[in-house]
Amino acid sequence: MGNVDMQFEFEEKSRIFAIHTQRSSYVFGINERDRLQHLYWGEPVTIDDCAPLLRGRSHSSFDAEVDMEAEEYSFWGGVNYDEPSLKVRMPDGVRDLLAGYVRHEIREEDGRQTLVIVLKDRVYPLEAHLLYRVIPEYDLIERSARIVNTGGDDIVLESVQSAAWSLPDLRDYRLTHVTGKWSGEFQLRRNVLSEGKKVLESRRGFTDSHANPWFAVDEGQATETDGRVWFGALAWSGNWKITAEKTVFNHVRVTGGINDFDSEWVLGAGESFDAPWFVGGYTAGGFGGMSRNLHQYQHAYVLPSSEPRKVLYNSWEATYFNVNAADQMALAERAARMGVELFVVDDGWFGQRNNDRAGLGDWYVNKEKFPNGLGELIGKVHKLGMEFGIWVEPEAVNPDSDLYRAHPDWVYHFETRPRTELRNQLLLNISKPEVKAYILQFMTELLQNHRIKFIKWDMNRTVTEPGMKDHPLHRQKELWIRHVRSLYEIWAELRRRFPHVEFETCAGGGARIDLGIFRYADQSWPSDNTDAFDRLSIQEGFSYTYAPRMMTCWVTESPTGMNKRNVSLKYRFHSAMMGTLGIGSNLNEWSDELIEQSGEFIRQYKAIRPLVQFGRQYRLADLQHKGVTAVQYVDEAGTDSAVFAFLHSQRLGEPLPRLRLQGLQADRAYAIEGLPGSWSGRALMNIGIELPLRGDFDSLLYRVTAVE
Ligand code: DGJ
Repeated sequence: MGNVDMQFEFEEKSRIFAIHTQRSSYVFGINERDRLQHLYWGEPVTIDDCAPLLRGRSHSSFDAEVDMEAEEYSFWGGVNYDEPSLKVRMPDGVRDLLAGYVRHEIREEDGRQTLVIVLKDRVYPLEAHLLYRVIPEYDLIERSARIVNTGGDDIVLESVQSAAWSLPDLRDYRLTHVTGKWSGEFQLRRNVLSEGKKVLESRRGFTDSHANPWFAVDEGQATETDGRVWFGALAWSGNWKITAEKTVFNHVRVTGGINDFDSEWVLGAGESFDAPWFVGGYTAGGFGGMSRNLHQYQHAYVLPSSEPRKVLYNSWEATYFNVNAADQMALAERAARMGVELFVVDDGWFGQRNNDRAGLGDWYVNKEKFPNGLGELIGKVHKLGMEFGIWVEPEAVNPDSDLYRAHPDWVYHFETRPRTELRNQLLLNISKPEVKAYILQFMTELLQNHRIKFIKWDMNRTVTEPGMKDHPLHRQKELWIRHVRSLYEIWAELRRRFPHVEFETCAGGGARIDLGIFRYADQSWPSDNTDAFDRLSIQEGFSYTYAPRMMTCWVTESPTGMNKRNVSLKYRFHSAMMGTLGIGSNLNEWSDELIEQSGEFIRQYKAIRPLVQFGRQYRLADLQHKGVTAVQYVDEAGTDSAVFAFLHSQRLGEPLPRLRLQGLQADRAYAIEGLPGSWSGRALMNIGIELPLRGDFDSLLYRVTAVE
């Protein structure tokens, strides 16, 4: 037994690898044809347990591919008709890959122990390095693939997927994912897979609100609290694809990575190509267990900072493009009175940006709106005790702008086609060195010349006419990858130059939210829909994958612009307090009383912020059928907790059943702030608390704390 490491195990005799986390095992082996065959993923087992699984399978000569169904990383070549992990074109035009295991090692990369398994084509100078890292405490495995051209001629990569996750034999395979649209993002969907493929993807150039790059599969009965769930989330902010494929032999494999649609990468002599990381996990703790593992992983391994997120004010819904120094200073005064910590000026402060038809790309301060520059407002904001933040959208340009008039060729386009305008704007080819330098320069000047703590980086259109002027013809399909890589490089460089600045990712709401951008972004704007009731389902879908701290939520007007729904200030605050709290109303029109009341909610939020932003989140789904949404946040010790509950509409005078809490210590006694008496954790978790919610759109917040 060659026990090479606690987490990675390899047995020479059987040629089987096992990856162990605290509560799971992931096992695959090298078969007699030197292909990697997946064997097992689930509750902890040993290599010996799995040894009998490493053998060929056959059905008929018409179904010879059955043998390859469980390939750990599937090559397109020979008898292989499933979703390939790697598809290439060799210099002589051969499009058949025949690669087998040659060696493996464990080495440190980026400060992390990484298992690297090298597979090599039998004839051509091409290697596929499969990379594995382990996060034992959260039962997660990160996977990626590095494709290496060890020869002297170009090899074209037609599809490089990050990983293929094979699932064990289950009676049913139920896929959970999210779908959405602008202002209706992160809506949960569940469907049982039948034979064939279910493809979740983006072809729009960014992550996209129509789907989000993660998946969960269970046997059909998993709940928030119980059941086995296998899941994965991809760290890529461009065109992506996750294919859940069920074969006629009941094998399910979920393959994911950069979308191969209209995509190619020319791999030159000696070059290598790194696929984005795809993190996968197994839990027996239901969807709640899945989400908490992902959240904690993001806190510890993904996010660029561990600072608490500030209570922010954002000017967008208050003043839209009609931004000026006087109004913003008045807003800042009121925001400060409420206890806001970060004042953010949104769109409209630069160039001739008086509406969405002009000015984008001209990143100089508009002197009519800010006659004394931004410095006056920033000084005022600091004097009021707040930090200052500002909105930018560097990747896009209005045709009516000085930038576009000077550089019409900087945008993606085809010479013979009209340039499609979306929100009256075009998209810059940010991988073009001049464009990248332009963005880095104006951002550097902005951040150097002003005391700015926070950047909201927006992106309000998809990619159309994907042509890159001056880029070689045979490399045009690299655009989708080049855009994302360049974006990451710009953000990384800005974070290096300005380490104190925090970033928010926004793309017309939640269209660029994924584990890739969160390596650079501290938080995100999940939706332009700020209706506090709609937000409950958006936030629920978001929370399946992403931690509450990464989600900015504003309190805005009632009735809301979106649905004209009236909900109380309390309900709006409670809904927005479940992530990173923000205010987005026109405070210049708010009464002193409203400001006072809001100040009280903000004080409450600050008191529970450590629980919301760093605690464990439990979606309490038991009363969903009664129209109740409830979410609980608990500290690591299980001694302090905040519970939010929302009632949609009371009907027929029916009282609500009790709400059972989670994550507490059974034998401790707890007090609920504002209520007389005390309860054991056992009682709170098994019998539950009464919910005095009445009427329509009622809500409450309980602080539940252990007492001696
Ligand atoms: C879309 C964003 O989602 C909004 O919050 C706002 O920043 C506007 N863009 C500004 O144009």
